[in-house]
Amino acid sequence: MLQIVILAAGKGTRMKSALPKVLHPLAGKSLLGHVLATAATLSPTKTVIVYGHGGEAVPAAFAQQSAAFVLQEPQLGTGHAVQQAIPALADDGTTLVLYGDVPLISTDTLRRVLTKPDTLSVLTVTLDDPTGYGRIVRDAAGRVQRIVEQKDADDATRAIREVNTGIIAAPTARLAAWLGRLSNHNAQREYYLTDVIAMAVADGLTIHTTQPDAFWEVEGINSRDQLARLERIHQGEQAKRLMAGGVTLADPARIDVRGELSCGTDVTIDVGCVFEGVVQIGEDVEIGPYCVIKNSVIESGARIAAYSHLEGAHVGPVAKIGPYARLRPGARLARDVHIGNFVEVKATTIGEGSKANHLAYLGDSEIGRNVNVGAGTITCNYDGANKSKTIIEDDAFIGSDTQLVAPVRVGRGATLGAGTTLTRDAPEGQLTVSRAKQVSIAGWKRPTKKTPA
Ligand code: UD1
Ligand code: CA
Repeated sequence: MLQIVILAAGKGTRMKSALPKVLHPLAGKSLLGHVLATAATLSPTKTVIVYGHGGEAVPAAFAQQSAAFVLQEPQLGTGHAVQQAIPALADDGTTLVLYGDVPLISTDTLRRVLTKPDTLSVLTVTLDDPTGYGRIVRDAAGRVQRIVEQKDADDATRAIREVNTGIIAAPTARLAAWLGRLSNHNAQREYYLTDVIAMAVADGLTIHTTQPDAFWEVEGINSRDQLARLERIHQGEQAKRLMAGGVTLADPARIDVRGELSCGTDVTIDVGCVFEGVVQIGEDVEIGPYCVIKNSVIESGARIAAYSHLEGAHVGPVAKIGPYARLRPGARLARDVHIGNFVEVKATTIGEGSKANHLAYLGDSEIGRNVNVGAGTITCNYDGANKSKTIIEDDAFIGSDTQLVAPVRVGRGATLGAGTTLTRDAPEGQLTVSRAKQVSIAGWKRPTKKTPA
């Protein structure tokens, strides 16, 4: 049985922000959100988040989640912080301690920490420059004896390069007992979580240590500079994963995935694209440069040209979108639909083979198959109070600069003449046109500028 405590009470002064540090986003999700998501992969029976005074936005941001929140006030150190969570835990099984500002810890590494449930486990790293970290002190046989904080360490101890990442796991009941015996007789007058290591050794336990695959997994964030650096590392890792899955990236350093992007094989993504939320892309799709794609599905063989913006859209197979297209929530495009430059589509289904290639607004509409929507066509879906629907049946031809004043229906195979303002249904198969009669006035003269008197 596993329980997880996440420490998130630190003030985050160096962020210089009104937002609590752990709520700052990395790849579109809060730092604490990342830790919670990773924690959830371990299926804990309980997760307790220790937050600090002034950080009320933290529990508010996660009100939907099953995690419990405990306030630590005042903040008297990491040991004191974990102690605040103890009353919220069942006293059996293992407790794992994580940090709300260490967002990229991986499930694989944590599983390694949890392989020895009967003892205390510490995740350590070995650094060229260990300055600032708690040092892992081992005996001649290599067994961990204790952790000594930088500020309490003598020169010999400071020379140790193996350091504490802060992540530990221990049997819950024993951890609770050790925490109850902590004192703050140290350089920082804090209750150190790290002091439980020597207590475990005194109780005859052999401390288990393991190391993460990469240092960035255990890097904490204290400043916006560190946040930006970890963001780049995380994006680089996602780019690697995409390429390993058969995606061509024009430049792996110029893609941002803020959510979950899944791609079939032979997808090509040009530079500067941003993916948000859950985006699913089929096989052999090409995404041009500088597209923003959020919560959308793009089926196989589709082409999304430069500077297109998609949100909540479904793009059918071999469709051609953009450049400069905007697909808004509820845009559902079937196979081989073409949406060209400066065309906006919202809450509209478009049938197979239909085209709107230039400068149009299609909202709250149902458009059939093989419909041609001319340049400048606008569905007038909003009367200032209510939205109404436009229906365009199969094989209709909508002439350029047409306004469809909804609710209105264009029958199958109907043609609308250019410039039509359609206020009543257009019957199928006929030409409907509303247009002032064209006149030419013979002998008309252009006005000339009056000469001042
Ligand atoms: C801690 C470890 C140190 C380790 C380092 C890794 C202790 C005593 N030291 O040191 O061995 O090398 O992390 O980064 O544990 N926090 C609270 N409440 C508190 C104090 C801290 O929630 O009262 C949280 C902070 O928000 C932060 C984390 O605990 O997320 C670590 O606190 P911090 O003060 O940064 O610990 P360090 O001094 O860096
Ligand atoms: Ca017009």
